[in-house]
Amino acid sequence: MEKEKIIELLNTDLQDEHGAIIQYLSHAYAIGEGEMSCEIEALAREEMRHLDWLAETIVALGGVPSLKRGTMRMGGDAVPDWMGNDVLLEEGAIDQYKEHIKMVDDPRIKRLLQRILADEEAHHGKFVHFVDKVKREGSRDLRGSRQDGVTKTLNWGIEHEYTVVLQYMFHSYMTRNQEAKRQLEDQAINEMQHLGWLAEELVDGGGNPRIEHTKPDQSTRTADMLRADIKIEKEVAEAYDKAAKEVEDPGLKELLLRIRDNERYHTDVFNDLLKGEEGK
Ligand SMILES: [Fe+2]
Ligand SMILES: [Fe+2]
Ligand SMILES: [Fe+2]
Repeated sequence: MEKEKIIELLNTDLQDEHGAIIQYLSHAYAIGEGEMSCEIEALAREEMRHLDWLAETIVALGGVPSLKRGTMRMGGDAVPDWMGNDVLLEEGAIDQYKEHIKMVDDPRIKRLLQRILADEEAHHGKFVHFVDKVKREGSRDLRGSRQDGVTKTLNWGIEHEYTVVLQYMFHSYMTRNQEAKRQLEDQAINEMQHLGWLAEELVDGGGNPRIEHTKPDQSTRTADMLRADIKIEKEVAEAYDKAAKEVEDPGLKELLLRIRDNERYHTDVFNDLLKGEEGK
């Protein structure tokens, strides 16, 4: 099989991992605290590892990882329907990986896809179990319809965090600077945490998280990446600072200030890396 074709096929898998991550996180946030949402978040984290392996393989083949989001099944009125949708998503993934394993002849890529397939089969079993569990024990959609300045701020934050997660991951895949790669991965994980904090805060407060993103920067030269990353960090640190001053709830204020301080730290880290790049 041609390289180009393999890259295309792996990018399809990568896009579907992206879709699965967002679907599962949306479900976990909407169900709220508790054992099951923790387990669902853990499954989303496994899909993140898959996405990471696929992206690294694509880059090693000379390709560019796709930032598009693939298949999602977001319908359903109640939690059992959602878990049913998650079962169906895993079934789709299992079929697709099986097909791709047959198509690819490179033994290392085959082995990687088999490794991922084994996880998807385990996930499928988990979600089948969750369908049964929520039917027996019940589980509620905790989201509300609150819409005011606070929910607007939180959804703005979620949109920003999702965008930078994609941006920093893309940059980490494309840079050849090993220290920049490590830092970008690290900060992407921190932005992922911010997204979770904001979404949970939003659901706790009776709102509904909207997990969408704007266009991530797709520079491929390290210095350009870092300049874009510094620019966005400075903007959002300021926006979080302003939002923190405007909100009255002390818990929310504290959360926004904590995130603001993380963003300032990111700015410093990226500034140092940029100095290193410019000194080359
Ligand atoms: Fe899965
Ligand atoms: Fe952040
Ligand atoms: Fe940041």
